[in-house]
Amino acid sequence: MIPFLDLKRQFLELEAEVNEALRRVLASGTYILGVEVESFESEWASFCGVAGAAAVGSGTDALTLALIASGAVRNNHGDEVLTSTLTSPYTALSIVKAGGVPVFVDIDPSSCTVQPEDIERAITPHTRAIVPVHLYGRMADMLSIAEIAAQRNLMVFEDAAHAHGAQKGANSSVAASYSFYPTKNLGGFGDGGIVTSNDESIIKTIKVLRQGGHDAALKTNVAGLNSRLDEVQAAILRAKLKRLDEWNVRRRRLARMYTEGLKESHQIKVPVVDEPESHVHHLYVIQHEKRDDLRKHLLDQGIETMVHYPSLLHQQPLFRQSNQRSLPVAERVVNKILSLPLYPQLTDIELEKVTTAVLSYRD
Ligand SMILES: Cc1ncc(COP(=O)(O)O)c(C=O)c1O
Repeated sequence: MIPFLDLKRQFLELEAEVNEALRRVLASGTYILGVEVESFESEWASFCGVAGAAAVGSGTDALTLALIASGAVRNNHGDEVLTSTLTSPYTALSIVKAGGVPVFVDIDPSSCTVQPEDIERAITPHTRAIVPVHLYGRMADMLSIAEIAAQRNLMVFEDAAHAHGAQKGANSSVAASYSFYPTKNLGGFGDGGIVTSNDESIIKTIKVLRQGGHDAALKTNVAGLNSRLDEVQAAILRAKLKRLDEWNVRRRRLARMYTEGLKESHQIKVPVVDEPESHVHHLYVIQHEKRDDLRKHLLDQGIETMVHYPSLLHQQPLFRQSNQRSLPVAERVVNKILSLPLYPQLTDIELEKVTTAVLSYRD
């Protein structure tokens, strides 16, 4: 059996560091918002090359709070936020939870990230912001998006839940949100998330909003959330952060091996990678016309795969608008995408077995 992901292997690689982090926190007597969270925030900000970071309870809350704290989305004003239709439902849920209306945009057929020309098409007088998603670990076309945003006076927020370490340094976005869900390139042993921004006032506001919205004297001026990263998760994330660059290098190597191995098949479309490579391969997603049959063929040989994502957001009951346009590229691609196992602890031999099994598929 080759599992899609085996997080136990990662734990075994880091067992000593994790045990030390746990012991340190448990012995400290401080379990919420202490020195571990504060240290992790500054270590994550410096890893990303940005001025500041505010750690919260999940990636969903991170994006929600960034949209609220920046003033991009006002509650119940009909503020529209453009995002890709091919992403986790949590991206759109964050927009809804912030009080906005998600409006869905088509994707580029090779990168599977949001298509800048379709962003232009979707802008209305109610549009306030754009949320590009760095899907599967590949950066969206931030240059084109920044240009559109500047021309149309819109704010940009990156959903970087798949893209830890994909970009370091200056960026045109107002803020970026990350998830530390256990399966992510940097994942905790539970939920967690963080917002990074060069705007210190946004970081400061999120630190108030994550604690109910009240000040130190418990005077509440705005309705916030209860959404804090706990000390245990922060200490573990600090230990794992030391390995992230090395893990991303390994992910890139594995992705190259897949691409090299699969290139002889004309039925398979492999992911596109730009040079210099910023892709951090959170997921290795191929496209195949007979995706479901191929998936079954792999499972019959003990190889687990997944589909990210099986349904498009503009077609989901919660998000569908009465005036929803069709989004033809995504509607075509969604039935072809298949995520193969890829994580730093996957062995070369396992990867070769997956490659051989994919190539052995016949219609
Ligand atoms: C693209 C994307 N955005 C947002 C989220 C939400 O993150 P979380 O599960 O930490 O709330 C996820 C993860 O599920 C995701 O994959």
